[in-house]
Amino acid sequence: MSNLAERLKHYPAVVDLQKRAKKRLPRVAWEYLDMGTDNDRTLDLNRDALDRIKFLPKFMLGNIQPDLSTSVFGREYKLPFGVAPVGLTGLMWPRVELILAQSAAKYQYPYTLSMVATQTPEAVGAVVGDMGWFQLYPPRNPLMRSDVLRRAKESGFHTLVVTADIPAPSGRQRSVRAGLTMPPKITPRFVWQGMINPAWTIATLREGLPSLRTLEKYSADGSMKEISNFVAQELGGTLDWDYLKEVRDIWDGPLVIKGIMHPDDAAKCVDEVGADGVQVSNHGGRQLDGAPAAIDMLPIIKERIGDRATITFDSGVRTGLDVIRAYAMGADFVFAGRAFISAVGAFGDEGGDHVTEILKSEMKNDMANIGVGSIEEIKTMRENGFFFEP
Ligand SMILES: Cc1cc2nc3c(=O)[nH]c(=O)nc-3n(C[C@H](O)[C@H](O)[C@H](O)COP(=O)(O)O)c2cc1C
Repeated sequence: MSNLAERLKHYPAVVDLQKRAKKRLPRVAWEYLDMGTDNDRTLDLNRDALDRIKFLPKFMLGNIQPDLSTSVFGREYKLPFGVAPVGLTGLMWPRVELILAQSAAKYQYPYTLSMVATQTPEAVGAVVGDMGWFQLYPPRNPLMRSDVLRRAKESGFHTLVVTADIPAPSGRQRSVRAGLTMPPKITPRFVWQGMINPAWTIATLREGLPSLRTLEKYSADGSMKEISNFVAQELGGTLDWDYLKEVRDIWDGPLVIKGIMHPDDAAKCVDEVGADGVQVSNHGGRQLDGAPAAIDMLPIIKERIGDRATITFDSGVRTGLDVIRAYAMGADFVFAGRAFISAVGAFGDEGGDHVTEILKSEMKNDMANIGVGSIEEIKTMRENGFFFEP
């Protein structure tokens, strides 16, 4: 399809991008991206809870020209949403990190690089400009931890996100059923899935099978098998409060603890660790199938920590309206994972700009239809009577 305007007419929403990505990705990659855990109850709950939030619009406000810019940790962003960290990214589409980082730099919104992504901080730092956030899974070895953080900092990543919500692996039944192994292996089933998804296969053959490149230098021989063993041994069950305090001491810049659902944890991150922010998230419903929807915890956590720290949010965001909902419920910044990756699965190099345009225009339309003109106004919607709470 020739240009973005044309593509937007045929694929005007994230659900359209998801449908197209599902067709173009091998089943194993699609299932890995789309799955939750166990019976996908929390995955679905994230959506249901967002859909339940209703607004009562106010009219007669003249011509509203919504301003989407906002700032967080003293930095200006032209758009109020960003890319959440996603690991094993190259399985979904090769170079997905670089494609999304380029869009983030172009439109001026944050891109969070996962430590277990398939591109390095050095490679992504070269294209992300000053929009880079870096996500750490806590390595057991302090020397490795310092080295990874040094590399991120030197590559221009200014905001550190430490993910707290993976104390143990979760049930990955859908990807197991689809045949995903760690490391990804070339089995006859995989070859067949590749043959029926030629666009993915050609792109992958050009780039090579995905590898957790940031970690290559720390594992014995840099092979994917070695790295997988290494991840299991080095990154699991490592995080406690003392560890977080050590990270606070060595990271000179904004620090966000991601995956916070309990108000007690949120308060402790802020008051005892000195974190600058917490990211309210249930990992997109991928870890605990009995967890509540992340959006339902947002106002509770806001109530607990007030303005003492920044609250970022992810889990379930698929539309511009969802971004508005999250700000209205107490977020200071909003992230999405699957929406961005699906866009690249659907349109490769053009996917990042495509999904950005969708979220941006949905937000502008919905803000004008509700009667709010800025992110600050969205944050005061509850006290200004915009919520429909029968
Ligand atoms: C395929 C996939 C891989 C992910 N990998 C990571 C990761 O490496 N680090 C991390 O902190 N979160 C990871 N997440 C969670 C996301 O950062 C984010 O919390 C989640 O995707 C938000 O939900 P959404 O996809 O509904 O927007 C991953 C999510 C997905 C879908």
